[in-house]
Amino acid sequence: MKILFATPECAPYVKTGGLGDVSAALPATLAALGHDVHILMPAYKGMKVSGEIGDGVELPPWGPWPAAQLVPVKIPNGVTLLLLACPSLYQRPGGPYVDASGRDYHDNALRFGLLSWVAAQIGTVHSPLRGWTADVVHANDWPCGLSMLYLAQSRMVLPHEATAAGIVTIHNLAFQGVFPMGSADLLGVPHHWRGMDGVEFWGQLSMLKAGIQFADAITTVSPTYAREIQTPAHGIGFDGILRARSSRLHGILNGIDTKLWDPRADELLPFHFGPDNLQGKAQCKAALQARMGLPADPKAMVFAVVSRLTPQKGIDLVLGALPRLVASGAQFVVLGQGEPGLQQALKDAAQKHPKQVAVQLGFDESLAHLIEAGADVFLMPSRFEPCGLNQMYSQAYGTPPIVGPVGGLLDSVTDASEDAQHGTGFVMRGVDPAGLDDAIARATRLWREPQRWRRIQANGMARHFGWEDSALQYVEVYERALMETRGAAA
Ligand code: ADP
Ligand code: GLC
Repeated sequence: MKILFATPECAPYVKTGGLGDVSAALPATLAALGHDVHILMPAYKGMKVSGEIGDGVELPPWGPWPAAQLVPVKIPNGVTLLLLACPSLYQRPGGPYVDASGRDYHDNALRFGLLSWVAAQIGTVHSPLRGWTADVVHANDWPCGLSMLYLAQSRMVLPHEATAAGIVTIHNLAFQGVFPMGSADLLGVPHHWRGMDGVEFWGQLSMLKAGIQFADAITTVSPTYAREIQTPAHGIGFDGILRARSSRLHGILNGIDTKLWDPRADELLPFHFGPDNLQGKAQCKAALQARMGLPADPKAMVFAVVSRLTPQKGIDLVLGALPRLVASGAQFVVLGQGEPGLQQALKDAAQKHPKQVAVQLGFDESLAHLIEAGADVFLMPSRFEPCGLNQMYSQAYGTPPIVGPVGGLLDSVTDASEDAQHGTGFVMRGVDPAGLDDAIARATRLWREPQRWRRIQANGMARHFGWEDSALQYVEVYERALMETRGAAA
């Protein structure tokens, strides 16, 4: 199958969160299964890509978009990276979505409209890549949502077998890609698709809604989240349309890249370890304490957070629990960036308790690995979590996580108090201060019983979090969608 994986970010080139990791690992796994996979993403400023660079393909100016180029690069994992080069839209200081001061780019509708339009074109007989037309266009999150609408539009004028099946994956329903309805003209959204059955969302245009309405299949990143988003409590205004399309909605749990995240061989760790020998983990703990400027005390229980600092992740709950953690003699380390208020509150806590609380603001891949390896407990008290990768990394690194009872966290962590035999972490009984205090107390009690603790570590380290099973589930979704769309031509 020819699969076009369209995404606004892909590790190690550009990553702001879990989508970056998924965009690297899932296509590579699909390629290893024998599929012909191309990743389409914008060529942002400062991206370092190595691989065999092919001839660029010119895309003449079209609609509101300036001329652009598609540059194919064969990257080492058997996948072709298609870089969408359009300097006036993508070559800027700042991140993929926001400028250097954290504000959304004013022309995001245009920037991601182009990404979506090109993705859809590659899924038709008019593909600009001569000789390569995708069978499946797999669009990720709101920045690629409009590609599903553009594909549906092509189907109005082309035979069905001349267009790809369209799959959209929701990595986070909270990001809905909402723009003034005025952008519909610019983006070429036909009038009859501007209403409630189309892209309209509270009077505006939602690119995510375009994805959900026009895709042949919708996936999200865990079975529990797939159920949650069909309820008013978690649907953020989309539960109705998701219920209406529930027969086409699938929850497929993310995996992790078990080559990059393997404590026995992780190139970013100063010491290695495995389930049978945790000495290297103790050394990583000392290295982490040194790196963060904390006393190198093996007896201090180290709690850790690596996260975007947003209300989604329950960082305010962690701040609330800090005084009690500090009073118990524990240490706390955090690596993250996000809301200024949360950043400041964490910095203040570190200043107040310099021997027990250490905060690093910013994005630092190698410190993230050291924290996963060196901490004793990973904190992830999320209010909602489509999947979450950090709780999987931490289990693989012998660092049992404390998690909120939501989404992919429920699908990937077994509570050690409920199931002493198979437990791998601690599931909060409620996402509130009492729920977090209780989970911390349970974890602390068990940490003081080394044999039982090692059991929980071993259970987590033995878990299989690879991508293979999930990739096969994606292939099934692709095949079914293809059969339905191409079958519809008959
Ligand atoms: P989300 O995508 O909602 O942010 P995930 O748990 O799925 O949450 O993925 C987050 C990814 O981003 C993980 O790979 C995590 O290690 C990484 N990450 C988050 N914040 C930072 C940071 N400040 N520095 C380094 N890596 C980070
Ligand atoms: C989103 C979600 C996270 C998920 C990631 C990758 O950022 O917040 O839970 O793991 O996407 O799918």
